[in-house]
Amino acid sequence: MEKLGVAIIGSGSAVPTTSLDNQGLTQLVDTSDEWIATRTGIKERRLAGADESLKTIATMASFKAIAAAGITAADIDLILLATSTPDDLFGTACQIQAELGATKAVAFDLTAACSGFVFGLVTAAQYIRTGVYQNVLLIGGDILSRWVDWQDRGTCILFGDGAGAVILQANESDRLLGFELKTDGTQNHYLNLAYKASTDELIPGVKVNKGNFQPITMNGKEVYRFAVQRVPEVIDKALFHANLSVDQIDWLILHQANQRILDAVAQRLNIPAHKVISNLAEYGNTSAASIPLALDEAVQQGKIKPGDIIATSGFGAGLTWGAAIFQWGR
Ligand code: UT7
Repeated sequence: MEKLGVAIIGSGSAVPTTSLDNQGLTQLVDTSDEWIATRTGIKERRLAGADESLKTIATMASFKAIAAAGITAADIDLILLATSTPDDLFGTACQIQAELGATKAVAFDLTAACSGFVFGLVTAAQYIRTGVYQNVLLIGGDILSRWVDWQDRGTCILFGDGAGAVILQANESDRLLGFELKTDGTQNHYLNLAYKASTDELIPGVKVNKGNFQPITMNGKEVYRFAVQRVPEVIDKALFHANLSVDQIDWLILHQANQRILDAVAQRLNIPAHKVISNLAEYGNTSAASIPLALDEAVQQGKIKPGDIIATSGFGAGLTWGAAIFQWGR
C-alpha cells in the first residue's frame, strides 16, 4: 500500500548557552522583573553568542530529531527551514544540509515569521501526501536577538533565540488530522523587520537602493488583540477539518508569545490549563522555534506520548496565523 499519510516521528531542539534574565534587562531599559513576569510570563531568554549562529543551533536540533526518529541524514528527501533570521539572505537551509551530510535532500528556507513552523508543517505534508518525498526535516529556528532594538522596552523584553526540528515521514495512516492557514497583509504594519532603502546613484540616471534591515518594530497591543481573537478561531477551523471536538485535544502548543495570550486562548477554547504546554518563562518568544522547542521539551519530559492529539497554532508578523491538529508518533 502506498504511504500517502503523514506522521511526525521525532523531535529535537537546541538553544544558545548564554542566558539573560529579566534583572539583566533592567541594565538596558527602564523595566523590572515584576513587570516582565506579570505582563508576559517571561523570566529569561537565551541569546546566541559570537560562536553560535542559526546554522549551529538548527543543525544541533536537527541531529537530535534525526536520532529520535531512528533515521539517518542520508534518508532525508527535503529540508525546510522556517526562519526570518537566516545567516545568509540567500538561505541557511543549504548550509544545514551540508552540516548534516543530507546529500539526497533538497533544502530551502521558508519565511512566515512566528507562523513559520505551522506553515512549514503543512508545506512538508503536501510533499508527502503527493507521494513525492518520504522523509522531511522541518526546522523552526530564529535568532531575533540580532534584530531586536535593545533600547526599546516594548520589544526587547520579549524575544529569545532557539531552534527546534521534527521529522515528518510518509505513513500508511495520516496523523496530520486537520489544518487551517491564514494571512492578512492589511495588518502588515503592526510587526516588521523592514528593509530601509537608501538611494545610491551608480552612474548618472541609474539609481539603486542599497539599504539595511531595521530593528523590529511592533504595535504590541494590536498584535495581542489579533492573537487572542484569531487563534481560537483558527484552531476551531482546524478541529472542524479534523472532525474532532475540543475535549479530544490532549495538548495545546501555541506559539510562545506571551503567557497571557496562552491563557486567554485556552480559556476561550475551554481547554484546561494542565493541557497547555508553556516554556515561555525560560526562553521568551523564539519566533519560528517556539512551537518545536516546546513540543520537543514536552516529548523529552514524557508528557507527550505516541498517539496523543496535539493542537498547535502559530501567529505573528505578516500578519499570518495558522493551526494544525496532529497525532504524535507513527
Ligand atoms: O510573535 C508575536 C509577537 N508579538 C506578540 O505576541 C506581542 C503581543 N503583545 C504583548 O505581548 C503585549 O502587548 C506586550 C507585552 C508587548 C505589552 O504589554 P501590554 O500589557 O500591552 O502593555 P502596554 O504596551 O499597554 O504598556 C502598559 C504600560 C505603558 O505605560 P503607561 O503608558 O501605562 O504609563 C508602557 O509604557 O507599560 C509600559 N511598559 C513597560 N513598563 C516596564 C511597556 N513596556 C514596558 C517594560 N517595562 N518592558
